[in-house]
Amino acid sequence: MRIAIYPGTFDPITNGHLDIIERASQLFDRVIVTVAVNSSKTPMFTAEERVALIKAILKQKRLTNVTVEHFSGLLVSFARKKKAAAIIRGLRAISDFEYEFQMALMNRKQANDIATVFLMPHERYTYLNSSIIREIARLHGNFKDFVHPVVVRALKKKLRR
Ligand code: COA
Repeated sequence: MRIAIYPGTFDPITNGHLDIIERASQLFDRVIVTVAVNSSKTPMFTAEERVALIKAILKQKRLTNVTVEHFSGLLVSFARKKKAAAIIRGLRAISDFEYEFQMALMNRKQANDIATVFLMPHERYTYLNSSIIREIARLHGNFKDFVHPVVVRALKKKLRR
């Protein structure tokens, strides 16, 4: 069984991330969306909230070979524990390359048997990231086209508090 992990902060998950998940689910037998608990970022949603949002979306989309977990610590250790053959990362534009290149090479140095596989989301998501969604939501702009309705509701609820 070919297992891949798809790590990220997912604060919150966007349609760009979902696009990558759907592509990965067609290439691998099992995909584990891996929510980073201790990234350098200060998230709006807790790790549990981010996992719950992703779970709800996966259920609605009936992506039965995709699961979601959170992790802390070294990514390759988590990948090993899950017997993953690959780490999926999305490449949206050339500006992603340097950071991704460094991370992929460092991960390969730690675990030569785990490949990083880059997938390109649909070009309509090239300019999307989670911070811009949070900012538009805070400023009461329109972000419905960029995130799943489950996330729209969660963002509105969070910002009402
Ligand atoms: N569509 C839309 N947005 C996307 C996207 C896509 N397809 N792919 C990435 N993004 C956005 C994210 O929303 C995020 O935006 P933000 O900065 O506004 O939040 C940004 O691109 C990149 O974030 P993400 O893909 O979530 O990765 P990350 O940089 O937050 O997380 C980890 C990186 C968690 C995978 C990495 O830090 C890690 O592996 N940590 C564990 C510790 C470790 O092993 N470190 C050594 C690594 S060599």
